Amino acid sequence: MAPTPLAPLSRQDQEKQQAGAAALRWVRDGMVLGLGTGSTSAQFIIQLGAAVRNGLRVQGIATSLASEALARQVGIPLLEPRRGLRFDLAVDGADELDSQLRLIKGGGGALLREKLLETASDYLLVVADSSKLVPQLGRFPLPLEVVPFALPWVQDAVADLGGNPVVRMAKDDPTAYYYSDQKNLILDCHFGQIAEPEQLASRLKTIPGIVEHGLFIGLAKAALVVRDGETLVLRPGEAGRPATDFMELP
Ligand code: A5P
Repeated sequence: MAPTPLAPLSRQDQEKQQAGAAALRWVRDGMVLGLGTGSTSAQFIIQLGAAVRNGLRVQGIATSLASEALARQVGIPLLEPRRGLRFDLAVDGADELDSQLRLIKGGGGALLREKLLETASDYLLVVADSSKLVPQLGRFPLPLEVVPFALPWVQDAVADLGGNPVVRMAKDDPTAYYYSDQKNLILDCHFGQIAEPEQLASRLKTIPGIVEHGLFIGLAKAALVVRDGETLVLRPGEAGRPATDFMELP
């Protein structure tokens, strides 16, 4: 029987695949890597696994149990968290990024581990399809990771800040809450356009019960964004340049 033909990739999926593959050019032998979460990061992890099977020596830690399982499956050696461990490079997707490379992350629920590893990284490279680049953050609801006991008070505090908080539900059971890898809840907060992301981030930091918020500010050093088939490298506050001009870490 003839094999069923595979459905062609959507344009967005093609962009994700291209961004993930482009990030491989930033990896050097011997690096310790932070491995991101989401469909674009997965493309990077798959390509990285192929490079490892061809002799590239790297080690890493994943930002989620799902990425850890994928990394294991494709043969990437994994490390355990330990004091003093830093990452030469972290590669991760984003739900939104602006021209300053401020990010909204956490659409996949992995914002806490992502922020931990990316804060411990010398270089965060974002990989994204063209839909993620926005003039102002806020179209994508801002995820917060919340200790379950604290939920009602965090909801009140977020509402006072002008964000409509919605508790994320499980994908496979709309009557059950979604839990993060740390067994916390995720609140998706609709603030509308976020004019002052730094100010909002500082306010959210003061609310007890919020373990972490999805605003990643001052962390990303560069982003690979694929648009119309072209891979652009963006740096904070600079216009994008074709990736072929820009394949080295600074
Ligand atoms: C995971 O928690 C998120 O921060 C992801 O990085 C983000 O959702 C991007 O996902 P995609 O690459 O699937 O769009």
